[in-house]
Amino acid sequence: MTTNAAWFDRAQHVIPGGVDSPVRSFRSVGGVPYTVISGSGAYVTDVEGRRYLDFVQSYGASLLGHASPLVVETIQKSAALGTTFGAPTPGEVLLAEAMVQRVAGLEQVRLVSSGTEAVMSAVRLARGATGRSKILKFDGCYHGHSDALLVAGGSGVAQLGLPGSAGVTDGSVADTLVAPYNVVPTLDDSVAAVLVEPVAANMNLVAPVAGFLEGLRAECDRVGALLIFDEVITGFRLASGGAEEYFGVTPDLWCFGKVIGGGLPVGAFGGSRALLSHLAPSGPVYQAGTLSGNPLATAAGLSVLSQVNGSDYRTLASTVAGFAASLEDVINANGLSAQVPVVGTLTGLYLSHEPFAAPQNFTEAKVLCDNGLYQEFFHAMLRRGVALAPGAYEIMFVSFAHGPADLAGALSAAGEATREVVAAR
Ligand SMILES: Cc1ncc(COP(=O)(O)O)c(C=O)c1O
Repeated sequence: MTTNAAWFDRAQHVIPGGVDSPVRSFRSVGGVPYTVISGSGAYVTDVEGRRYLDFVQSYGASLLGHASPLVVETIQKSAALGTTFGAPTPGEVLLAEAMVQRVAGLEQVRLVSSGTEAVMSAVRLARGATGRSKILKFDGCYHGHSDALLVAGGSGVAQLGLPGSAGVTDGSVADTLVAPYNVVPTLDDSVAAVLVEPVAANMNLVAPVAGFLEGLRAECDRVGALLIFDEVITGFRLASGGAEEYFGVTPDLWCFGKVIGGGLPVGAFGGSRALLSHLAPSGPVYQAGTLSGNPLATAAGLSVLSQVNGSDYRTLASTVAGFAASLEDVINANGLSAQVPVVGTLTGLYLSHEPFAAPQNFTEAKVLCDNGLYQEFFHAMLRRGVALAPGAYEIMFVSFAHGPADLAGALSAAGEATREVVAAR
């Protein structure tokens, strides 16, 4: 049993669609997913022994690259001491301290086991603290798969062409309002919170226009609603202090995930001590988890955070900016039109046959993501050993392990891949 096809076939017998998260299935790009057997730095290797330069990086969970030596050593040491206890551990305190030290205004965090849980819990807290019901989210932003927030979701929801999800009752979305990204909505005092990805990274990559985040802050203040930044992608990746540091706008609540688990399952939400005091056991908003603050995850996350500082993020941002500009040039020079948006260390990719403006909202992003070109480009890149995410709505993750030679290789693959896509027309 050594081929990707054989593993996927076997998987489909016992796992719905053969995957534990829909985006991995290749459903929107076609073909059989590669089954990963190992990863090292910027690369993953599949069961057939093929190595790919990996721009998926576990959708952003891996900041230092795969199997980063210090992180692996930390996990091994931690595992030898026991993997879960159901009692407080020093690791939870150390990770929480590392987070509040880096993010101005963040005074307390509660650790959970995924980004979905973090956002779901932050929303409950916002409702409990304000005594209000409505939550406003933006079209094309993805906040995990909790019932109330799947509506108008980006990422896999958009890839599968779903408006939301079957199985979600009208009642569970009755208090969810949806507005277009990059336009400040007018709120009223029924709104408990505005939930936003400060950089929209689940409709490929859409930057907030000047004044958008500031406008949300002002509008929330005007009606007494809370502003929640979903920093599951941007947190500890955009900058040491995440989107708040990068844009200079402070939310009331933050949601984190991905990077802070160092590749293990984790999430967190936090804010001021006053706000967090509404949470059980101090307050009436209940929230809990058997594996919350898991010792392996906190040790791995702490190891990652302690290996990077503010100037490392600036270095990575400049690497990403150079790579993105060259990628855009190489695709444009070989016969397709590309926009490779960059926000700090984040970058994305939109393709078209004709020149176009960078999208500013989901409606504009969708036209580009659904034009079929990404799918062709994805496979042409994969054939050349470069793994982009298997979905046009996902961004590219450049880790600290992506060196100049790796990125140069990706650029030359992109030139060839573009010519192949053009020639096939
Ligand atoms: C912005 C954002 N929020 C929340 C989530 C959900 O996180 P998880 O998949 O860990 O549940 C994601 C996942 O990609 C995300 O991108």
